[in-house]
Amino acid sequence: MFGIMTAEQVVRRIWSFSKALDLALIDEEVSKGFKIEVGYRHGERVGYISLRLGHILGLRGNNLFLLLIAGLMHDIGAVGGFAEYHGNSRLMEVHSELGAGIMSDFPGGEVLAEAIRFHHKTPADAVEIPIVAKIISLADKLDIIMGRKMTTYKDRARILNHIKSLTGKDFFPEVTDALVQLAGEEAFWLYVNEGELLEPTLTFLFEGKADQNCLEFQGICDLMFGELFTNKLAETFAFLIDQKSTFTGRHSRSVAENAYAMAVELGWDSTQCKDIKIAGLLHDLGKLAVPQKILDKPGSLNEEEIQTIRTHTYYTYNLLSSAGFPKNIIEWASYHHERLDGRGYPFRTPRESLTTGSRLMTIADIFTALTEDRPYRNGLSKEKAMEIIRNGVHITVDGELVEIAKKALL
Ligand SMILES: [Fe+2]
Ligand SMILES: [Fe+2]
Ligand SMILES: [Fe+2]
Repeated sequence: MFGIMTAEQVVRRIWSFSKALDLALIDEEVSKGFKIEVGYRHGERVGYISLRLGHILGLRGNNLFLLLIAGLMHDIGAVGGFAEYHGNSRLMEVHSELGAGIMSDFPGGEVLAEAIRFHHKTPADAVEIPIVAKIISLADKLDIIMGRKMTTYKDRARILNHIKSLTGKDFFPEVTDALVQLAGEEAFWLYVNEGELLEPTLTFLFEGKADQNCLEFQGICDLMFGELFTNKLAETFAFLIDQKSTFTGRHSRSVAENAYAMAVELGWDSTQCKDIKIAGLLHDLGKLAVPQKILDKPGSLNEEEIQTIRTHTYYTYNLLSSAGFPKNIIEWASYHHERLDGRGYPFRTPRESLTTGSRLMTIADIFTALTEDRPYRNGLSKEKAMEIIRNGVHITVDGELVEIAKKALL
């Protein structure tokens, strides 16, 4: 299922996961009573600005590609505390180091890790910093300075003067020079303001604007991405989702293992088994968009909070769709709260549209949740959990698959 990906598919996939990160950043802002402004589309904008600056500074091929990925993912170490992590210099250091550690296992990890490790460094720190980090450092600050309103002609001049005046202290001279050049292009400001940056990025990379033909990027993708990349993304985001809530230490990873065990019991081939594992790892991806204070609320939730929690599978569906995953994985992951009686969420998918994989994932999710400890209760025994699931046969879950679950999981 995940053989070689085209370079464009790699960009689309990583872009979608960057959106998931941005949703997590917005959550932080909202839950602290800030306006949505700061986090909104931060990764996307930093990725695009970095790409454009990197190109002016002569980066091509592999290095340009990795710069874009590092820009999109630069705050991956700040999930669960964006505002805190950017609140003082020690925590800036901490999330940069965490992010570098996370990305170092990816294909191209050395470049990614360096770029992210130093993304808050300035000339004043007087350490040797790779050019990719210097670029992201400026793109990151520029995004915040621009804010989320349209930049007028006057704003642009003011922003440039501000950056020039702090060059040598907060900004690196060669990157400021590149920005001065880029700033002459009206479309640059308009694109960043307007919102849709994925298509301009793809056009820039693959339609010759980066003076690079697509085949060269494809060579990089063949070498570095594909199955390994997708597996790594799925494992990484499962970890991020699980660590976001203090309740759910390993939930995503356990759901993936349980779904995999059921698929093996069903006699599925190895490709399908791998796919269900990916779907399990990512089934709660949309929880990155749910405020932590709701995920972590110890008591019962009010109606509004329930509605908010329920949005998570909608986001899972959207993010996996825009990431270009095949239909089976998208459905298996995002239908896990759908029910056989058609009263599930978020789609109220009817029974006949719930495939075996979707039904299997529902059982794996419920079983895992019931057997996990929560602050307000201990995990149930496997037998007790299975008994509860059996009570939902024909209403929520599929009876034949419950028998499979008993064999695979008890
Ligand atoms: Fe940061
Ligand atoms: Fe940032
Ligand atoms: Fe869920």
